[in-house]
Amino acid sequence: MLKLKSLDLKTEKVPTLIIPVCEDERIHENKPLIPLIEKALELSEFKGESDDEVVFYSPPDTAVERVVLMGLGKREKLDAESFRKLCGKAVKQAIKKDLKEVLFAVPADGKTGLDFADLLKAMLEGACLGNHIFDRYKEEKKKKPLETIGFQLDSEIAGTHSALPEHVRAECKGTLLARDWVTLPANDKRPEMYADSVKQAAEAAGLSVTVLDEAALAEKGFGAMLAVAQGSEAKPRLVILEYRAEGAGKTVALVGKGVTFDTGGLNLKISGSMTDMKTDMAGSAAVAGALIAVADLKPDCNVIGLLPLVENMPSGTAIRPGDIIRSYSGKTVEIGNTDAEGRLILIDTLAYAVDTYQPDTIIDLATLTGACLMALGEKFAAVFSHDDALAEAIVAAGVQTHERCWRMPLPEDYKELLKSEFADIGNMPSTRWGGAITAALFLSEFVKDARWAHIDTAGPVYDKKGNAYSPPGGTGFGVRLICNLLGRL
Ligand code: BES
Ligand code: ZN
Ligand code: ZN
Repeated sequence: MLKLKSLDLKTEKVPTLIIPVCEDERIHENKPLIPLIEKALELSEFKGESDDEVVFYSPPDTAVERVVLMGLGKREKLDAESFRKLCGKAVKQAIKKDLKEVLFAVPADGKTGLDFADLLKAMLEGACLGNHIFDRYKEEKKKKPLETIGFQLDSEIAGTHSALPEHVRAECKGTLLARDWVTLPANDKRPEMYADSVKQAAEAAGLSVTVLDEAALAEKGFGAMLAVAQGSEAKPRLVILEYRAEGAGKTVALVGKGVTFDTGGLNLKISGSMTDMKTDMAGSAAVAGALIAVADLKPDCNVIGLLPLVENMPSGTAIRPGDIIRSYSGKTVEIGNTDAEGRLILIDTLAYAVDTYQPDTIIDLATLTGACLMALGEKFAAVFSHDDALAEAIVAAGVQTHERCWRMPLPEDYKELLKSEFADIGNMPSTRWGGAITAALFLSEFVKDARWAHIDTAGPVYDKKGNAYSPPGGTGFGVRLICNLLGRL
């Protein structure tokens, strides 16, 4: 579907050509494009500012039927995200117009101030991610994704980057799967169903998959995870996805929070806060999506994904505030609040992963706290790690993929806030201040001395309104981030 092309625009028929245009500098060198760009910039309605747009139909001296010129703004302000957005927006518009294919004119090497490979990758990503529709629940499927998205390049340059479309396709496939799982309503992704869906997609991608049921989890001692699950009629599952690199590589374990719906349990959430709690499994969706991408990308490290899946419900069998449970690690936890359930399913899974796989690095992704949203808003994830290099690698990966992460501290003295009178630790801190930090500190007690990072993704995993390359719903946050990160560990 994504194709690098080197067409002769004078003679070869192109239904729709999209040309990104800067306000203040010329970024294309392809001859037939130049007069089109000059002509557009002569129009009072097109200045090349971002969101400017003009369409020419069948312009002279080309075989192009429709040329869409889209503004990028000033050259010095350009970054990879400018191109992701432009391409995503162009694809979305093309879908609306019932087109089947588009061709993007890629700016010339050295003209945008960006590294050419980064520029091209961003264009492919924006286009591919924008080309997705979630219409599973609509009787009438009005719109269809484009069949082909081409990128017009000099033939020599196209040769150099010939592996890129396949690479981007793999990362985007994982991202789009993660989005759909997050967008899916909770009634259609109760732990058992969701586990089946992940298993099916993961096996099709060539991963090995193990699913532990309630009995297996009980036998292994997942006391904290089972405590959360016990309020729901839906039984818990732990899905384990494994990618093994050829030759002995390092092992990275990824753990993703998979609460398919978070009512809060007996500490019931008030209605407004419960609305979007079908997204409380977004960490697990990102881990599953990343592993499915990894199956195609074939990095040289082993990657293990662990997805604890539960539904957090209030009922006659639910855990109560004040209950004390025994976690996988052997440490006891006093339940101060049943709505702090994510950390309970994570500690068992983290401790199990550390014991079972002795990973060189272990990272968890979780929509863990409302406090994280308070601190960083909806577009940043928080990163916690004792390991500077790991935290910096995550932040750097996020800069490149525009899945923005911000490092937060793990102050030893805040552990005081998690003390319990009767158990080894409490799941509810004694203050509401610094809630994202105390949640991370709670997790840190269960990873022994593993090289570990926690990413709180409560903000960016869901976008109600949608943006240039993501329709309303799950964003797939974390999938491209992890793919990028694996190359940095
Ligand atoms: N799933 C929520 C966190 C969340 C809130 C994610 C809003 C996305 C948007 C989590 O399980 C939770 O309820 N956390 C509590 C913890 C508290 C009881 C210590 C919170 O953040 O209020
Ligand atoms: Zn909760
Ligand atoms: Zn939750």
